[in-house]
Order: sequence, then C-alpha cells, then structure tokens
Amino acid sequence: MNFEKNILCIGAGYVGGPTMSMIADKCPQYKVTIVDINEEKIKAWQTDDLPIYEPGLLEVVKRARGRNLFFSTEILASIKEADIIFVSVNTPTKTFGEGAGKASDLQYIEKTARMILEASDSDKIIVEKSTLPVRTAEALERVLNSNDRGIRFEIVSNPEFLAEGTAVRDLENPDRVLIGSRETKSGRKARKEVGDIYRNWIPKKRVLESNIWSSELSKLTANAFLAQRISSINSLSAICEATGADVREVARNIGTDTRIGDKFLNASVGFGGSCFKKDILNLVYISETLGLKEVAEYWEQVIKMNDYQEVRFVKNMLKNMFNTLAGKKIALFGFAFKADTGDTRETPAYYISKMLLEENANLVITDPKAIPNAKIDLEPVVSAYTADKMLSFEEDPYKAAYDADAIAIVTEWNDFKVLDYKKIFDSMRKPAYLFDGRNILNHKELFDIGFEVYPLGSSPLTKYS
Ligand code: NAD
Ligand code: UGA
Repeated sequence: MNFEKNILCIGAGYVGGPTMSMIADKCPQYKVTIVDINEEKIKAWQTDDLPIYEPGLLEVVKRARGRNLFFSTEILASIKEADIIFVSVNTPTKTFGEGAGKASDLQYIEKTARMILEASDSDKIIVEKSTLPVRTAEALERVLNSNDRGIRFEIVSNPEFLAEGTAVRDLENPDRVLIGSRETKSGRKARKEVGDIYRNWIPKKRVLESNIWSSELSKLTANAFLAQRISSINSLSAICEATGADVREVARNIGTDTRIGDKFLNASVGFGGSCFKKDILNLVYISETLGLKEVAEYWEQVIKMNDYQEVRFVKNMLKNMFNTLAGKKIALFGFAFKADTGDTRETPAYYISKMLLEENANLVITDPKAIPNAKIDLEPVVSAYTADKMLSFEEDPYKAAYDADAIAIVTEWNDFKVLDYKKIFDSMRKPAYLFDGRNILNHKELFDIGFEVYPLGSSPLTKYS
C-alpha cells in the first residue's frame, strides 16, 4: 500500500502512544510508526493489554493497528524512511549537576537528535512533541544541521495539551493545536505541513500557528497557569477550614465570573502528575538563568503551596485522631494522581503515604488501577522507614476499610463515590474517621451514618468537637 506520508514518533509513552494512534485512526492515508527503546512497551502496544490505561484508547489503537499504525523497536530504519518525525521522549527534571532539581534533563532529546542525524539520508521535519524549555529548537538545529551531507532538518514545535484519563477525548476534540516554527519560508512550509495532519479532523480555526519560541514557552505557561489555579484554591481551602467558609461554595461563587471561569477550581490534596511540578520547576530555572529572580520566586510559590497542602492533609488527620497514628489502620482510597489513570508519577498519595508510614500508621492502599505502580513507588519507603507489615495493598475497598480507624480519600475515582458507606462504617473501628481529600462524597450522609467527617476546605462534621 502506498501512503501519502510516512510519520514516525520516537517515544511510545503516555503522549507518543495516544497522540500517534489518534493521527493514524483519523488519517488512514498516512503510515504512522511509533518506536521506543523499551522493548516491553512496544510489545505491549501490540497486544490488547496496552502499557498505559486510558479510557477508549484500545478501540482507537485497534482500528488502526496493522492497517497504518505500527509499533517497532527498529529505530534507525524507521528514521530513515520517515518524512516527519515527532519526538515524544521523556524530559524529566534533572537530578544531577548544574540545575539539578529544577532544569529539564534533555539527555533523551539530545540522544534522539543524534540518532536522527545518524540514520537520515534525506531532508526531514522534526517535531518537538515533548515539553521543552524555550529555545530548545535552537540547540536541536545546531545538532541536526551540523551535518556535512547536505541534509536539511526543519524544527517545528507542536506541544501536547492532553490530560491523562481524558486523552482520547482531548485528542479527538482539542481546544487548540499549537504549531510553532521559524518565521522563514521553509519554517512556515513545515508548519503548514504539520498543521495539515491535524486539519484532517480538527477545525481550521483551532489549529494555531506561532513563532517557535512562543510555542515552546506557551506549553510551560499553560501548565503553570493550570497548576497555579489549583494552588490558589488550595491556599483558600486552609482559610475556609479556619473560618467556616466552604471552599466549594467559594469556587462556585468566583467561578461563575466568566473572567475567572469554573475549571480547575477543585480544592484537593494537591496536584500530581508527571508534568505540573517539572514544568514549573523548569520555568523557575529559566527565569533564574535569565536573572529574573522575582519571576522565579513567583512561580516557585505554586509548588511550595502544593507541598504545604499535602503536609496539611496529614497534619489534620494526626490532630483529629488524638495526635497519634501509631498502629492505627488507615485505608488510603486511591493512589493514582487523578482518577481514570494508573499513573502515579508525583502523586500526592505517595507523599501522604510516606508521612503516614513515618507516623507508624498501618497503611492499606486501595486503587482500581494504580496498585502495581504504588507497590513499585513505595518499596524504597518501606525498607527505609518501616516494617513490611505496616503497608499492604488491597483491591477491594471494603476489605481495605475493614477494621480500619480511618479512610483517607486521595484520588477522586468514581468507584469510591458509589460504595456502600453504611456497610463500610459497620466494619470499621469506632470512632470511624473519614478524611475526604477530594470532596467527592456526601458529607452530611456520612455524618448521619456515624462517621467523623473531615472534608477539605470546610468545617468538619463531628460529634466530638
Ligand atoms: P513517558 O515516559 O511515558 O514516555 C517517553 C518514552 O520515550 C519512554 O517510553 C521512553 O522509553 C522513550 N524514550 C526515551 N528515550 C528514547 C530514545 N532515545 N529512543 C526511543 N525512545 C526513547 O513520557 P510521556 O508522559 O509520554 O511524556 C513525554 C513528553 O511529553 C514529556 O516531555 C512530557 O512533559 C510531555 N507531556 C506529557 C503529558 C502527559 O500527560 N504525560 C502531556 C503533555 C506533554
Ligand atoms: C495536565 C494538563 O491538564 C494538560 O493540559 C497537560 O498536557 C499535561 O498536564 C501535561 O503537560 O502533562 P494531567 O497532569 O494529565 O494534565 O492532569 P490534570 O487533569 O491537569 O490534573 C493534574 C493534577 O491536578 C491532578 O493531580 C488532579 O487531581 C489535580 N487537580 C486538577 C486538582 O487538584 N484540582 C482541579 O481542579 C483540577
């Protein structure tokens, strides 16, 4: 079969996999190949047990797989035959050397660029899909266009805005797709070519074009603004708890102002996920290297507020359970960083679990999808702080809560909203505490059942204080 274009994506993770599967599904005229150095991951993408959990994704993959969507570990051969290469490798926070703890670790990006250089024998468009510091394209151009074989690479920035758990919906119907390039003739031509892929199913006016630095910076900015809203409402949740105001009412009351808007105003135990923290830290680092100390401090506060919220949640549990959690059974409802994903990267549940284990609590974790990752994440914590028997995992929330002193809700899974809390209450030790770190339950009903209820950002419902 002759395809109109040969599209390659390097990196088969949370972004590369879903994004390219959607392109393949919507554009049968293109051949789409996704490669990765991780053989296990590539194998999993070829089965019905995909390496990531994302509602609706398997159907998308199945429609295109084997038709015009292919998964492979043949990276160099795939590069050679590609016209357009999306780079979707990970860009974690640097853990060593200059900028450790803040700057983006660009080693995977650079390795990818060098592989592209090694394997290419024709001109190509290279698309930055990973989230990158502003002006990364300049460095990529320097590596790629340093070749003496006359091969020309045009760098285009096309950051991804999907959220986990809603990736399929976000990719099918995005608010916008952003494509940045150099404002040169060849830059604009490449930008149009990448835009044309998306225009196969996305209305023209939602495909935004800009200069390449604006595009790179807009991705960091979008994540910083979203995270800042959460930190802002979380900061208010502390004031609400101290004053009798209710953060859900405050959020509604301000969110109806169309200038503010009602999204991302759910107070919580804190934001998690692989990107908010890393991208803000990256913004902080960029500001610092530009000598913009006040700007750096402004954004750093968003992270500090998030850390504070996690600590505050555990301190609140401690304070209300007679200042000791030692030996008490705590059922942690949720470990994923948000509902509808098994991803636990930077999940507040990790930090909360660590603090509870440090208090010698007997922790039982239940989560519909994230138990395998939770086990991996907490292994070092268990060996460092506490005996194995103080931490266990339980798929069934009823069993997790059995004989427990407290339930702490840290992920907003729908599964937790529909449980029989009377049955749970009856099986728990008394007084039975419930700390709703996501405000997903009906607190009055829980109180009437007999729970001591501690919502987030409003007054507790309790018989004893
Ligand atoms: P991920 O870790 O899930 O996937 C990255 C993949 O790249 C891994 O499978 C890894 O094996 C592969 N890889 C690394 N080096 C490679 C190489 N040299 N050759 C081939 N494969 C290589 O990461 P992710 O969550 O998909 O994120 C990728 C990028 O997208 C990051 O920059 C992230 O900030 C950004 N992003 C992520 C999300 C999200 O929801 N996770 C959303 C928007 C943007
Ligand atoms: C986020 C952005 O929403 C995406 O646009 C972006 O592409 C992505 O980061 C990225 O660059 O990786 P994601 O982290 O998958 O997506 O999920 P979100 O829905 O943004 O949630 C992030 C965290 O904030 C979660 O822990 C969530 O529970 C929390 N949150 C969200 C709140 O605490 N309150 C809210 O009102 C909304």
